[in-house]
Amino acid sequence: MASTSPPQRWNRLSQMLHWLIALLILAMAAIGLIMVDLPNTPSKIAIFAIHKSIGISILALVALRLGWRLYSGAPAPLANTPKLQQRIAGAMHVALYVLLLAMPISGWLLNSAAGFPLQWFELVNLPAISEPSDALKELATRAHQLMFLALAGLVLLHAAAAIHHHLFLRDATLVRMLPRGWLRHPNGEDA
Ligand code: HEM
Repeated sequence: MASTSPPQRWNRLSQMLHWLIALLILAMAAIGLIMVDLPNTPSKIAIFAIHKSIGISILALVALRLGWRLYSGAPAPLANTPKLQQRIAGAMHVALYVLLLAMPISGWLLNSAAGFPLQWFELVNLPAISEPSDALKELATRAHQLMFLALAGLVLLHAAAAIHHHLFLRDATLVRMLPRGWLRHPNGEDA
């Protein structure tokens, strides 16, 4: 008979989306920080275009991840996790999702307000989401920069928490976000 209890691990698609998005965010941080200081050459335009295309991909992947999470659910909190700690982790994950969506949307907005065209990897033309406006461009650019700082801080905290769970609390928090067999449970249990 099928079990109705919540799963012990994140499912394969959630795991794949988690690590793919993490990788793309790291790449985007590097590309974004380097590209703004490049001299005005055709390569700069090409790098901006890659930044925008990966950013739009992140928007789609985060939307998919959220939809899939709502549909397929999440593993139950680990036993013995205090309620307050569960609430803090939950709030942190909500903040991460909000920033992961707001970051590309602010990029799209600043691109539209600047009057630049937007193509996804030279394959799909995407519409502008605002009229051209210098004031809105300034505002969206500032938001893009500030949200990036907030996102970087949260990602660092998030990674530090995962490592703390694995090395010091010795629980399955990190193990269950990886395919079975990729990382040993710190207590040698099968999570
Ligand atoms: C999660 C997705 C994204 C991340 C992490 C990200 C990150 C960054 C970073 C770190 C910068 C440099 C900020 C600075 O120091 O000035 C930047 C700039 C920029 N981003 Fe993004 N970005 C994302 C999505 C997008 C998208 C989807 C677009 C457009 C469709 C976009 C358009 C731009 C533009 C045009 C700039 C240059 C702004 C300027 O001229 O100062 N970004 N981004």
